[in-house]
Amino acid sequence: MPRKRTAAPAVARPPVLRRIAISTGGGDAPGLNAVIRAATLSALQHGWEVVGIRDGYNGLMNPGNYPWGGLVHLNRETVKGITHLGGTIIGSTNKGNPFSLPVKQADGTVVEEDHSDRLVAAFHREGIDALVSVGGDGSLAIAHRLAGKGIRVVGVPKTIDNDLDRTVITFGFDTAVSFATDCVDRLHSTAEAHGRVMVVEVMGRYAGWIALNTGIAGSADAVLIPEIPYDLRKVAEKVNERFHGGGGFAIVVVAEGAKPVDGAATVRSREAGRADRLGGVGEKVAAALQEMTGHETRCVVLGHLLRGGRPTSFDRLLSLRFGAAAVRALAEGHQDVMVALNPPRVDLVPLEEVSGRMRAVPLDSDSVMTARELGMCFGD
Ligand code: F6P
Repeated sequence: MPRKRTAAPAVARPPVLRRIAISTGGGDAPGLNAVIRAATLSALQHGWEVVGIRDGYNGLMNPGNYPWGGLVHLNRETVKGITHLGGTIIGSTNKGNPFSLPVKQADGTVVEEDHSDRLVAAFHREGIDALVSVGGDGSLAIAHRLAGKGIRVVGVPKTIDNDLDRTVITFGFDTAVSFATDCVDRLHSTAEAHGRVMVVEVMGRYAGWIALNTGIAGSADAVLIPEIPYDLRKVAEKVNERFHGGGGFAIVVVAEGAKPVDGAATVRSREAGRADRLGGVGEKVAAALQEMTGHETRCVVLGHLLRGGRPTSFDRLLSLRFGAAAVRALAEGHQDVMVALNPPRVDLVPLEEVSGRMRAVPLDSDSVMTARELGMCFGD
């Protein structure tokens, strides 16, 4: 069923925009530069000036930290040849929430403070009429709150984790899954050569989309995702079955946010003002499987490799479409909305419907059913 377009209709007389800003926030994802290029080139066609805010909102809030200025002027020259590049030419941060900024106090403690009014004042001071905010759940929630403070904003959904609601897919995900699948393909031959179990840890904090799709595409024997708490005895059974059935090796894909039936996700470290840093579940699973099955086991953590590199052509096209659609939305007078893929269209959805909502893998989805029908084990 196609989704209904629920965003407010374009206003009859769109506002006059002269200068817009682009911000990229949260963990980077392949395709950010393509969004920047498309949004810039589209905006230039409207005669608008375009600036990129360095490192989320830091360039606006703390311009003194940037000897060459906190804003990057975006024009034909500066966005030339960047579609295929990973990262973001304007920088990003996941520590820059203006509504709860971690600030070091005189006594050394860190306290989260609301600096949003200072940010809004900086938007006005710089003559910025509208904002294209490219980010995941955290950045889009911030964008929605800025809209509540009078900033004209359009969001663009980004995350390799693909866990944003109200869009069929986010850019960066396809690149991450393609790379992870290539790694699993490579691990097959070494696993087989040595008769080992290979455990592959991939990103996926709250949702197991990367692990699931990689596991299916890469013919894994087991996939552990946050949505399905696992019992390692079931995984060990599957591994033994695979060895005894003549396979002689096994591949297990684990999302970093996967948790056992009687436990929680593995947290590597905690820091004020940012989400817990996950990681380490792959090593735990590998050690336990070696102990339980007696088969030599190795763990490979793909981690940030999944966020780097050139976007696939799918992600490039999606990012370019999203960037152009964001500027089109601003030109039509929309605000406080997010561009979203609703094939074949790119639609607009209210940011309010996205903010604070996470899209987990539905347990009755075709992908989960397919995996089970292929004989894959989820540890349940
Ligand atoms: O972009 C989301 C994500 O990839 C999560 O899966 C992961 O937990 C997080 O980024 C890691 O972020 P950082 O770069 O701060 O370690």
